[in-house]
Amino acid sequence: MNQTQSKETLKQAIRELAKAKNAVLLAHYYTEGDVQDIADFVGDSLALAQKAAATTADIIVMCGVHFMGETCKILCPGKTVLVPDAEATCSLAESCPADRFADFVKAHPDYTVISYVNTSAAVKAVTDVVVTSGNARQIVESFPKNEKIIFGPDRNLGSYINAITSRQMMLWDGACHVHERFSVEKILALKQQYPDAKVLVHPECKGAVVKLADVVGSTAALLKFAAESPAQTFLVVTESGILHEMRKKCPTKQFIPVPPDDAGCACNECSYMRLNTLEKVYACLRDGRPEIQVPADIAEKAIKPIQRMLEMSK
Ligand code: 13P
Ligand code: SF4
Repeated sequence: MNQTQSKETLKQAIRELAKAKNAVLLAHYYTEGDVQDIADFVGDSLALAQKAAATTADIIVMCGVHFMGETCKILCPGKTVLVPDAEATCSLAESCPADRFADFVKAHPDYTVISYVNTSAAVKAVTDVVVTSGNARQIVESFPKNEKIIFGPDRNLGSYINAITSRQMMLWDGACHVHERFSVEKILALKQQYPDAKVLVHPECKGAVVKLADVVGSTAALLKFAAESPAQTFLVVTESGILHEMRKKCPTKQFIPVPPDDAGCACNECSYMRLNTLEKVYACLRDGRPEIQVPADIAEKAIKPIQRMLEMSK
């Protein structure tokens, strides 16, 4: 059997096992193309949470990172939530340790706490409302202009939302190791080479990079823009896994992944997302592990700001 045949056999085996176990496979756009291809649903962080909340499956396999699995478990405490690799964490979530964040919140009792979904369940437990990059603007704008707000943990997304909503939210000093690496110089050089290209930027990027964007948005928003735009060429300034769906949706258009600042490294790939392989998806379904567990006292608190977000995003 050659490599392509064995990959196709593995994909078929995963689908059969998922069916036999009444499992739903959810995947983020940043996972590798083969994993996206076998998923029942591929989406951005908001859509994945919405899908998890609505599923009737007995088992959710969350092909993404740990906080996404936690969100599924919090929303579906009675279901089994599996992740292909328990080591698939998130540098942004890790830049916000729960004990330090809780102290920060305690020190500012008159502030409303808005947390990006890229946080641990324990951080969500001390949060008033969760946001994703897809609904952050709308949710922040639902509060009065003079509301005192703590926004964590992504300083880049927080600065961007401050700028477009004319707020002065107090920001936690966290960031994503992938999005922080995109450089203005690389984008400008590519713009010279492809003058008609539109620049698609995720708001986790630094402010100087966001300024070069034709569109700033969540992974789903960037995809939508690419599909609807009459432009033929796009510079993609986010994790390169999204190119799979972009090329699938728009086969005649050209998508150019912007390399990170350090030539030669693959830093526009999220090393955590890439831990989701077909082999591990199969093994986790077969063995029923690694399984996500969230302590009951934390889940009880964390579900409130997640549900508030889902309500506000209808
Ligand atoms: P979205 O898919 O919500 O844009 O999130 C990007 C991300 O970094 C997920 O970890
Ligand atoms: Fe976290 Fe960044 Fe990876 Fe997204 S791309 S999962 S924010 S480390």
